[in-house]
Amino acid sequence: MKSKKLIIGNWKMYPVSIKDAKTRFVDIKKLASTLRNVQTVICPPFVHVSDLQKLVTGHRCTIGAQNAWIENDGAYTGEVSPLMLSSLKLTHVIVGHSERRAIGESDELVNKKVLAGIKAGITVVLCVGEKVRDQDGDYMKFISGQIRLALHGVQKKDLAKVVIAYEPVWAIGKHALRPASTDDALEVSILIKKTLSDLYGKEGMVVPILYGGSVDAKNAWEFLMKSQVDGLLVGRASLDPKIFGEILMSAEKIK
Ligand code: PGA
Repeated sequence: MKSKKLIIGNWKMYPVSIKDAKTRFVDIKKLASTLRNVQTVICPPFVHVSDLQKLVTGHRCTIGAQNAWIENDGAYTGEVSPLMLSSLKLTHVIVGHSERRAIGESDELVNKKVLAGIKAGITVVLCVGEKVRDQDGDYMKFISGQIRLALHGVQKKDLAKVVIAYEPVWAIGKHALRPASTDDALEVSILIKKTLSDLYGKEGMVVPILYGGSVDAKNAWEFLMKSQVDGLLVGRASLDPKIFGEILMSAEKIK
């Protein structure tokens, strides 16, 4: 639902032990399951997914995945299929994260993953974002190009299963150049809406838009208030239940 804020925690390749993962998830769920205005999704590493899924107790705090393959089964060593994820009742799958694009995932592959995820009934969290911000504004064309390529073949009726996360590569992770400003995020949020409206007309407006990249307890509220986004994709700060809890509380307060 667009009116609820969507806060997704991308745990990347942390934590190492399942015990640790369970403790953190239970801690987060304790708060998240009480929040009326927030949908929380935790995306742990694959090996922890089914254990954490067993700890899910309602719809307010669910489990997602960080990636999925383009077919539902087959000879694909090392891959996990979207149907496997949906049969575990995972709600979301992140697709096209910049850390995966950096190891060779092309726009064409991202598009196939988007289509496969939707077909399997999972909400796809499509990540887009530029590596650098140039003076001439070419990054705007780059981002709308990424969206157009990734959504190729996605029908209007499928849009309820699509979320777009703007994650400028230069603002992600501990080596981030600088955090994006709320204006940086606002500019691109408007661009994403414009691109969706060019592609789908007003039906494109059902797609929630997230911001991600160095989100923490200090800036979460500002991004939600000032950047016209429907939620956040949080990396590092989602691993700390206390900090993540503060982010969730910021989102809860916004009506
Ligand atoms: P970060 O990562 O919050 O640690 O910058 C965000 C992401 O990569 O999704």
